[in-house]
Amino acid sequence: MTSTTGTSTYDVADLSLADEGDRLIAWAAREMPVLGLIQERFERERPLAGLRLGACLHVTSETANLAITLRAGGADVRLCASNPLSTQDPVAAALTAHHGVPTFAVRGEDNARYFDHINAVLDHRPNLTMDDGADLVAELHKTRTELIPEVLAGTEETTTGVIRLRAMAAAKALRFPIVAVNEALTKHMFDNRYGTGQSTLDGLIRATNVLLAGKTLVVCGYGWCGRGLANRAAGHGAHVVVTEVDPVRALEAAMDGYRVMTLAEAAPQADFIVTVTGDINVIDRHHFELMKDGCIVANSGHFNDEINLAALDEMASGVSRPRPYVESYRLRDGRTVNVLAQGRLVNLAAAEGHPAAVMDMSFANQALCAEYVARHHAELEPRVYDVPADIDAAIAALKLSSMGIGIDVLTEEQRRYLASWESGTS
Ligand code: ADE
Repeated sequence: MTSTTGTSTYDVADLSLADEGDRLIAWAAREMPVLGLIQERFERERPLAGLRLGACLHVTSETANLAITLRAGGADVRLCASNPLSTQDPVAAALTAHHGVPTFAVRGEDNARYFDHINAVLDHRPNLTMDDGADLVAELHKTRTELIPEVLAGTEETTTGVIRLRAMAAAKALRFPIVAVNEALTKHMFDNRYGTGQSTLDGLIRATNVLLAGKTLVVCGYGWCGRGLANRAAGHGAHVVVTEVDPVRALEAAMDGYRVMTLAEAAPQADFIVTVTGDINVIDRHHFELMKDGCIVANSGHFNDEINLAALDEMASGVSRPRPYVESYRLRDGRTVNVLAQGRLVNLAAAEGHPAAVMDMSFANQALCAEYVARHHAELEPRVYDVPADIDAAIAALKLSSMGIGIDVLTEEQRRYLASWESGTS
């Protein structure tokens, strides 16, 4: 339930976990040098002073470092979870008790409490929104429209959220500008690929402790997340099969060395099927009918609608829970289908999400884009914008330097050559 201390309300599982949360936040900070540099500058320059910022993000130790950076920049931040199962309760407690960020997030909250938490953040009357999946912005536009005049702009973290916001913009429903952090190269090429690749396998392994080597693992969707997952699963010795609806991506997967086929063809062979598509009912009733006994299915896309669990429920004569995060559906013909983390993001529900070193870049983008929209909102229209290229390049340069990697620079002659058309075959 929402509680109040002094003037601030919050809802976390247990405030006494705050010291444990601080240790997790400090551990993540070691791997977030780019965000650390931004935090130092924000402390000096206070680019977000006077702004109320409402954030709906996975409440993890990495997100805590972002929230602390936004506070250092002067923002008055309130945070809620962007998924009912991804909250790290000690982190939520630490943010609330020690870092001045009232947090509304309890791991395992039901849908009603999840939306109460979003509304608690909206009660803060945000000037800036920061979303991961666009639930905050959608709720604002559906039920809290009276607050929209106070919103200057927002940012969006993930592919699914960007797709949703572009649909809102196309329908002329979006009423303030949003910067699509996901579209930064230093976000999706790293977070989606290496972050999802590693953390999804981490979730599969922690949930099941099943060996991947020699098993057939089907990856549904060959976007950046699917590419990362396929690559990491192959590294574990799994036989990787890719399914796709986009012919170019399917071709790319085939040329990357994976077997590509329809999910109906893949289902009878699969030991694991993992969805990373952003679409609905990717694993559907007719796929469950084809699976071999014991198949393990999981989702690492943003929402929990990629696996048709309602159909599976109807097909099942019973459900048991052999381990945390594993639900075994016994089908009437005697087969079992195992679903991980109730079809929610397996990497955040059964593991801890992307490692801090990759969230460093994603959240450096968030912090710099918050600063950008705070400065430039008056010049922007109510539509979805890409991250300015100079922000992307600056983050890549800072990350390289934090890794001790130097790169060559163009000579003056090379710069002139690239800007000219006269030279060709010589
Ligand atoms: N999304 C994926 N991994 C995450 C993490 N560790 N923290 C916040 N958001 C995430």
